[in-house]
Amino acid sequence: MKTVTVNASVRYDVLIEKGCLSRCGEMTAEIFDPKKSTAAIITDDTVAGLYLDTVVDSFQKAGFSVCCFVFPNGEDSKSHDVLLQVYDFLIENHVTRTDFIVALGGGVVGDLAGFAAATYLRGIRFMQIPTTFLAAIDSSVGGKTAVNIPAGKNLIGAFHQPSLVVCDPCTFSTLKPETFADGCAEMIKYAMIWSEDFLRLLETCDINEQIEEIVAYCVDIKRQIVEQDERDCGIRMILNYGHTLGHAIEKITNHTVTHGHGVAIGMVLITKLAILMGRCEQPLLNRLCAVLKRYHLPTAYDGKVSDLIDSCLHDKKRAGSIIRLIFVSNVGKTDIVPMDTDDFTKLLSEDTPC
Ligand SMILES: NC(=O)c1ccc[n+]([C@@H]2O[C@H](COP(=O)([O-])OP(=O)(O)OC[C@H]3O[C@@H](n4cnc5c(N)ncnc54)[C@H](O)[C@@H]3O)[C@@H](O)[C@H]2O)c1
Ligand SMILES: [Zn+2]
Repeated sequence: MKTVTVNASVRYDVLIEKGCLSRCGEMTAEIFDPKKSTAAIITDDTVAGLYLDTVVDSFQKAGFSVCCFVFPNGEDSKSHDVLLQVYDFLIENHVTRTDFIVALGGGVVGDLAGFAAATYLRGIRFMQIPTTFLAAIDSSVGGKTAVNIPAGKNLIGAFHQPSLVVCDPCTFSTLKPETFADGCAEMIKYAMIWSEDFLRLLETCDINEQIEEIVAYCVDIKRQIVEQDERDCGIRMILNYGHTLGHAIEKITNHTVTHGHGVAIGMVLITKLAILMGRCEQPLLNRLCAVLKRYHLPTAYDGKVSDLIDSCLHDKKRAGSIIRLIFVSNVGKTDIVPMDTDDFTKLLSEDTPC
């Protein structure tokens, strides 16, 4: 088993082992007392059909009382409506501060269940059992939780660290190829912002053969960043490499381009802008495109640049007229650059970067 210990405001372990899902109950009993706490499992219908029985069985064998809430899969469920249903479920099942929530699923389940945990009874403990590659290497670690509202994605949220993360990479075998690729985009992002050695590995290896090591490596990069800047005021922003333009593409396409696919295109576009600004060289872009293609990810945006500009400028999270861009000048070397939105617009329009 691989263990990464995160020393944030809460200290917790991320446990990674192929096949460990059937033992998740006993692994959890090391942290929560089965005699004193109920496990309130929250998941979506797809994950429930595949893994809920195994997880419930394992928790019950470990001595926990269990209650379950299942909602329809997909980004649309990361909503206020479903959140209110989760609160009702917790109240109906008499879940109290001595109990805990289990987020079983991808980033949607993790964000929604995590936000419910952050806010129900002014905050109860929770754990993550990520079942997508993206959730395993990114969203289940670091404590960002959120729901979407009509004005925008992730606008209502809280920082709330889990007490434990249990990851069984065997669950990735049932993912749709494009959902697995979404996680690959975040994996490539980690390599670009952090490590030449890791990028070289991704350019050559068969990741399925070393999936535990890859998950642990990515989680450890996130750990180092989150430990320095839990609240996203400084270095944590480099995790947004490719995300400003990626989010814009997700929004324009109404999420038919999923998160990882948007980030892949976003990394390409921001690198093209970096070349225009003299911040990096063409070979870096060639390498980025080649590795994205190796993991079946897109490298071009086929929409209108004007839509891209509109979408970036209407980002509700932006502070005033300044947009913060993350550039990679060399693999592992990042710069956070505040830029006036007028300059950003000019730059994007200057040379159709697609
Ligand atoms: N909190 C953070 O730090 C953070 C970071 C990155 C992304 N996110 C959020 O994560 C969400 C995206 O997460 P995601 O890509 O995991 O999407 P997701 O949770 O919607 O999962 C994608 C699809 O895969 C299905 N699925 C999950 N596990 C499966 C499995 N093992 N086998 C088969 N199907 C499975 C789900 O039911 C869903 O239909 C977004 O809402 C994004 O905002 C949060
Ligand atoms: Zn992301």
